[in-house]
Amino acid sequence: MFASAAQADTVVKIGHAAPLTGEIAHLGKDQENGARLAVEEINKKGLTIAGQKVTLELDAQDDAADPRIATQVAQKLVDDKVAVVIGHLNSGTSIPASKIYSDAGIAQISPAATNPQYTLQGFKTTFRVVSTDAQQGPALANYAIKTLKVKTVAVVDDATAYGKGLADEFEKTAKANGVTVLSHETTNDKAVDFRAILTKIKGERPDAIMYGGMDATGGPFVRQAKQLAIKAKVFEGDGACTEKLSELAGQGTDNVICSQPGMALSKMPGGPAFEQRYVARFKQPVQIYAPFAYDAVYIAVDAMKRANSTDLAKILAVMPSTRYNGISGLTQFDAKGDLKTPVISLYHYTGGKKSLLDVVTM
Ligand code: ALA
Repeated sequence: MFASAAQADTVVKIGHAAPLTGEIAHLGKDQENGARLAVEEINKKGLTIAGQKVTLELDAQDDAADPRIATQVAQKLVDDKVAVVIGHLNSGTSIPASKIYSDAGIAQISPAATNPQYTLQGFKTTFRVVSTDAQQGPALANYAIKTLKVKTVAVVDDATAYGKGLADEFEKTAKANGVTVLSHETTNDKAVDFRAILTKIKGERPDAIMYGGMDATGGPFVRQAKQLAIKAKVFEGDGACTEKLSELAGQGTDNVICSQPGMALSKMPGGPAFEQRYVARFKQPVQIYAPFAYDAVYIAVDAMKRANSTDLAKILAVMPSTRYNGISGLTQFDAKGDLKTPVISLYHYTGGKKSLLDVVTM
């Protein structure tokens, strides 16, 4: 036998979890595609850790955006012996799953979960490569107040950790700046008919509406607002700030102002080149989370290289000292595992096309 044949590649599993079924499967797939592109590129280039040739394998799981399924998926990834987890997508899944990764000592990097609570649990394993809703909520509210001179708002949320958390942050900033919050209604993340809530809001005549939720509900919400001839701008967060929103919101799309908890793809140092590679590989547009998932994989591999190991504890030990220059720029973490230099990008849609409105640095 040749000596080289005896030295088989070591397979290192990169866990990924996001909704691949249900109303926001398109967003989960977008995030997974970003991670997959990074894995494929790294394998093609060749990776050696501690003198051993390593092949990465993406272990992609479906959490259906359901908190209970997310904990089962997390246990599966632990049992599969993944070296790191990229995910989950929703705050409502990332938070319960994080306890399981913490107990197993596996670093978790979320490309999308924005509820501040995710990194406030005292776990050493939680990291994210997006800004938080404590930054996103105020950025949206400040735009409404300072640029659009909004004096009254109606707030609606989908009762998830994300939707409610973001709507509350928006409301807090609005109130602190003397804006009158006329009402705060709650729906759910499976709702399709918002006409009762919207009819009530129409009667309140707010200057603006804040909707905390994902595009699967945020789109129809905006579409129905337009059908009811509501003229107020509708503010939405990252979960609805997607390419698909215009398809879901129809004629209402141009009433939306939304935010992305990071640099706009067009402004990222490696953004346009990434977008080209992504579209060539997957034959579809980037929705929103793909670039963040892509960087998250590279950050994990950078940690393996710096640790000179694929051992969980050794990867985890070097994660806080990350200084990684990816397509979204330089990533460094604070003591909680949040970004040291968060940025929020604000968008609007013109003729149904998402375009950058403003960039807010913290
Ligand atoms: N930012 C969204 C969340 O945290 C995806 O659930």
